[in-house]
This record gives sequence, structure tokens and C-alpha cells, in this order.
Amino acid sequence: MLDCIIRNGLLPGAVECVDLGISAGKFVEIAPHIVAQAEDEFNARGYLLTPPFVDPHFHMDSTLSLGTPRFNESGTLLEGIQIWAELKADLKAEVIKKRALRLLDWSIARGTLAVRTHVDVTDPTLLAVDVLLEVKEEMREWVDIQLVAFPQEGLLRSSQGKDLLVRAVEKGVDVVGGIPHFERTTSHGTESITWLCELAAQKGLQVDMHCDESDDPLSRHIEHLAYEARRTGLGAKVTGSHLTSMHSMDNYYVSKLLPLIAESEIQVICNPLINIHLQGRQDNYPKRRGLTRVPELLGAGVNVALGHDCVMDPWYPMGSHDMLEVAHMGAHCLQMLGNSQLADVFSMVTGRAAQVMQLENYGLEVGKDASFVLLQAKSVSDALRLRPARLAVFRRGLCIAETPEVKAQLHFGRNEGQVDFL
Ligand code: FE2
Repeated sequence: MLDCIIRNGLLPGAVECVDLGISAGKFVEIAPHIVAQAEDEFNARGYLLTPPFVDPHFHMDSTLSLGTPRFNESGTLLEGIQIWAELKADLKAEVIKKRALRLLDWSIARGTLAVRTHVDVTDPTLLAVDVLLEVKEEMREWVDIQLVAFPQEGLLRSSQGKDLLVRAVEKGVDVVGGIPHFERTTSHGTESITWLCELAAQKGLQVDMHCDESDDPLSRHIEHLAYEARRTGLGAKVTGSHLTSMHSMDNYYVSKLLPLIAESEIQVICNPLINIHLQGRQDNYPKRRGLTRVPELLGAGVNVALGHDCVMDPWYPMGSHDMLEVAHMGAHCLQMLGNSQLADVFSMVTGRAAQVMQLENYGLEVGKDASFVLLQAKSVSDALRLRPARLAVFRRGLCIAETPEVKAQLHFGRNEGQVDFL
């Protein structure tokens, strides 16, 4: 006797529906028709069933703080950092926690069941670290959270930077972060990368750095990050986030850089919503898009994922933590709407993002966690086109969120029918 059978689900890329049998929170059978009995059955009605969405790059300490103490009028990264510094001085634990939990309600409703969040470790009290470690523990049953120790105001800009980062790691933060392009000088950026990678190697942790998040074609910290990933043996445990300067780099230099990145095995995260908004702000026309070179990185064999980065904070005023919005924006701004590219785009907010976070038991396969999202869609391209309702979100065999089907009712002329855009 199984715990549950999901009937008539359409898996990505499939034409025929399947049933999925679940026991003890795991998939135990996936077949055209399961004959075994189950305690419970759930009818997927021929809709698309996908692995949960994964957000590998987020900032949960600043989320939902939009407008406090003021709005970012210039739309630049630097004004965002300034507003965050002003806000940080007055932050209270209960406020950070309330916002984070509210955000996670949205995440789960959207089917985002794994989140890697950076947490600022340049506040001497490390208040946000303590709060988000608590949130991670409280929410463990429903969502996988990884914390990155992120020196938002620079590792080497203050005398306490290194000490605070080490203290955050000792408190239980999962990943070592960095921001080399924001250090005072390029050589300090280089020095910070070496120090952070050596710390991660010594502690057995992953690295995920904000790297070259600028329009400066000469911001080339990614080169040193790739070098250190190889030298320290960290390899795929290192991720370079943003890499927007690659958009503006000289093409000849990029032809040398891409193989270096591939050889180092580091992974890359692009954040389309945020960087299409923040980059190119000093440009007149033409304005650069400022996103890193995703199709070329994929072509070189590098694993690339997409992140949401921000929801309603000093850097970005929009969003509801919907990874299909990220994928939709990415597909357009990266010019990846080719038919064969859509599956890649979808994988960058599911499987490829899970690979960045090194999630275990992820995927629609026998033996893996029975966690999935049922979308009001019939294909992956429908999902990207419509960003449709998450009809059901399952976590380890349990339905933890539902959204009703969305249909428009027509009232004109010949037509009194319903439209679902499929
Ligand atoms: Fe970020």
C-alpha cells in the first residue's frame, strides 16, 4: 500500500501522462499506470508536473523593506547599498524575521522550495545572521535554505571585516561570500578572493561571490576566482554570481576567459530581473543590457543558473519570488527564446540551480524526494510563456500549497466560453 499516487501528470518533454507513486516522502514508482493501491490519490488532470523551483541567489535580510528609510531614485547598485546601510543601523530581529517568513510564504506558494540567501555580515552585531539561522531551522520541513556570509560593505574596507566573516561561519552559515569589485582597489578585490577561498577550503565550505557586478569591462575578478577555485581544489564548490562586467568585456579577452572558467569547474549565476534594472545606468544611448554571457557560458560547458536576487528592497521594487518571472525575463534579455533554448532556460531555475546548491534527493525520479509543482500548463514553453498558476506544490509527499485554476470567462457575441490561454 502506497501513501499516495499522483495520477495523470505530464512530465517536462513528455507527450503521454504518467502516474507517480509515493511512499515515506519519496517517489517509489513512475509509470504510465500504477496498479498498486494507495491511502490517497491526487489527480493532476494532464497538467505539467515539474521539479520544485530553486532560487540560488537571494537576499532575505533586506527583502520586503522597500521604501524604508527611502526609495532608490537613481536605480543604481550604489544607491541601493547606501540605503541598505542607512536601514541596517535600525534593524530589529523581529522585523527581519517577520519579513523573511512572509517572503517564504510567497516562495512556497510559487513552488520555490530551495533558496540560497546571502546575509550581510558587515553589521558588527551579526543580527541578521542569527535571525536567518533561526528562520532556516524553523522552515526546514518546507523549504531548503542555505545562508551565504556576504560582506556587503567589503571584506577589507573595515578592520573588522575578516573577523565578522569568520564569526558568521562559526555560527553555522553554509557558504562563504564576497564582493571583490566593491573593495577599495582592484588589488584588494584580488586579495579578498584569495583569503575567502582559502577560508572556505579550510572549513570545507562552498563559495558564492558577488563578482564583477558592474559595467566596467576591466573588472576581471572572475579570472582570479577561477584561478583560486582551481588552486585550492574547490572547483565546482565555487560559484560566481552576477558577472555582469563580462557583458562589456573585450571579445578577444572573453575568448580566453570562457575556457578558463570551464576548466576551473566553477558555476555561474545570472540575475536577469535585477541586472536588467541596475546595469547600464551611466550609459546614454545605446544602453547596455549588462547581463553576463549566458548562452556562451553554457556553450563552453559551464553550469549556469538564474537567481531572483531581490524582492521589494533597496535594489528592486518588484517581484513575488516567482522563478518563472526570472526565467521569462532571462529568456528575453539573454535572447534565449529559440525553441531548443527554452528547456535550458527552464533548467536554469530548476535542475541547474539545484546543482549550484548541491541539493540532494532533487528531481522527478524514483528514489528522490516526492517534491514537485503542478503548473496550469501543458509544456515547459507554456510555463515560460504564461507563468501560470501553481495548482499544487508538494514537499516530500505532502501538498503544502494550492492555487485555483485561472480561466477567463468571455461574455461577447458568439462566445460565452472560458479561455485558459493553452
Ligand atoms: Fe545579490
